[in-house]
Amino acid sequence: MTPTRRTVALGGLAGVTATVLGWRGGRADPAPLVPVPPLPAGRTVPLSLVAAERPVALPAFGGRAMPLMTFFEGDVFPPVVRIRRGDALVATLDNRLPASAEEMSVHWHGLRIPNGEDGVPYLTQSPVPPGERYVYRFTPPDAGTFWFHTHCNTAETIGRGLLGVLVVEGDESEPYDADVLVCLKDWRIGEDGGFLPFITDEGAARAGSFGTLRSANGAAALRIALPAGGDCRLRVLNVDPTRIPEIGVEGAEAAIVAIDGIAVPPFPLRSWRLGPAMRLDLVVRAPAGGGEARLVDYHAPQPVTLATLAATGTPRRTAAFDPAPLLAADLAAPDLANAAPLAFTFSATATGLDVADLAGTPAPLGPLCVTRRSFWAINRAPWPDGGHAVLPPPLATLERGRSYRLSLHNVTPHPHPVHIHGHFFRVLSSNRRDVVPHFADTVLLTPKERLEVALVADNPGDWMLHCHIIEHQETGMMGYVRVT
Ligand code: C2O
Ligand code: CU
Repeated sequence: MTPTRRTVALGGLAGVTATVLGWRGGRADPAPLVPVPPLPAGRTVPLSLVAAERPVALPAFGGRAMPLMTFFEGDVFPPVVRIRRGDALVATLDNRLPASAEEMSVHWHGLRIPNGEDGVPYLTQSPVPPGERYVYRFTPPDAGTFWFHTHCNTAETIGRGLLGVLVVEGDESEPYDADVLVCLKDWRIGEDGGFLPFITDEGAARAGSFGTLRSANGAAALRIALPAGGDCRLRVLNVDPTRIPEIGVEGAEAAIVAIDGIAVPPFPLRSWRLGPAMRLDLVVRAPAGGGEARLVDYHAPQPVTLATLAATGTPRRTAAFDPAPLLAADLAAPDLANAAPLAFTFSATATGLDVADLAGTPAPLGPLCVTRRSFWAINRAPWPDGGHAVLPPPLATLERGRSYRLSLHNVTPHPHPVHIHGHFFRVLSSNRRDVVPHFADTVLLTPKERLEVALVADNPGDWMLHCHIIEHQETGMMGYVRVT
């Protein structure tokens, strides 16, 4: 069985803009989700990832080819691997990056898989040098929208496009009329047409170095054809290392049906801040034939159109919008009554080094292939703490099977999307905003926010906990917890 790669359908008809319908649905007391059946026995799906530098001409580049790093041949972004829940993936990584480039690994973002397959250099495996091969084998337990990327020199490798989307399909009877994907990523291209540095001191010490060219599925003006009047699933991924759009839909009713791949009882999308690495599965009722709706970013002076959704054909549905839910993931609910408390503070680095002190000095790579500059810390410990190949101690040691209540406190003036490997947080409450209870592998900590989350430590091993603004991660805001 060959793994498939495909892009979303592009094109469609120009048409009038539909009126904003504003679904006020969202039941006050949503029915609980139906649990997913036990993991079925699936196929064994081989996947060949050949990491290499390749010239790639994406629509966003205006027909020019840029020297990307990719896992596959072809002018496609992002590559999408689709498997079914229950399938075992056997992914062979061949590192054919130039010898001058990094050793690498592949991390499977959001997948609750065994620690040895998690793809973190030094922590869960030896890094794979150029010319070498490594095989990952696992069966993802959850259906949903996930992605994979390196965990080594991540700002540059993600900056050059070295990533892929992994869709784990759930119950085939998911009752939607279309299933499309919108993958958001900016590119840092300078006036001379080449890539700008992927890490800058100015960016790393603040909100990150933003891309100069925005894209969705590699296009600056993405158009997606949807069946008119259909309830269409839109898998929105933010794989950018820096930007935090505020996602909305104009010209159509839209509901959130999954967050970071995990089903939630459908609720209306008003807007949702999608930090780096976060995913949002929407169901959008496509307008009538010829109509258009827009996926937008409100986090800008004027809403920015990320994708135009163009409806074609005769209307599929006429009943009021009431999107069907996905099946619940098989995720244990934390036992809040008996949860042990843990506190994590996300701060500027304890060493007090200033950007100015570091300007102009080269930043050597250290363990985990991160720069040795430290602007950020978790619980006052910036990563890395020790010398080469010396891992710092875990931020916390968790007892397997036990529930924990984590207080995540951002004492900086910048947002931080905080990601945990191998587990999902149950998001409980915030001191600054109302939260919809949900599971997430990446939570956006806004400035000065204290977010209460909980998890069941049910996956043994050493699991990274880090900011997914990659320049923050690579300059200190990274650690790990140990589940014994
Ligand atoms: Cu997207 Cu440590 O990962
Ligand atoms: Cu951060």
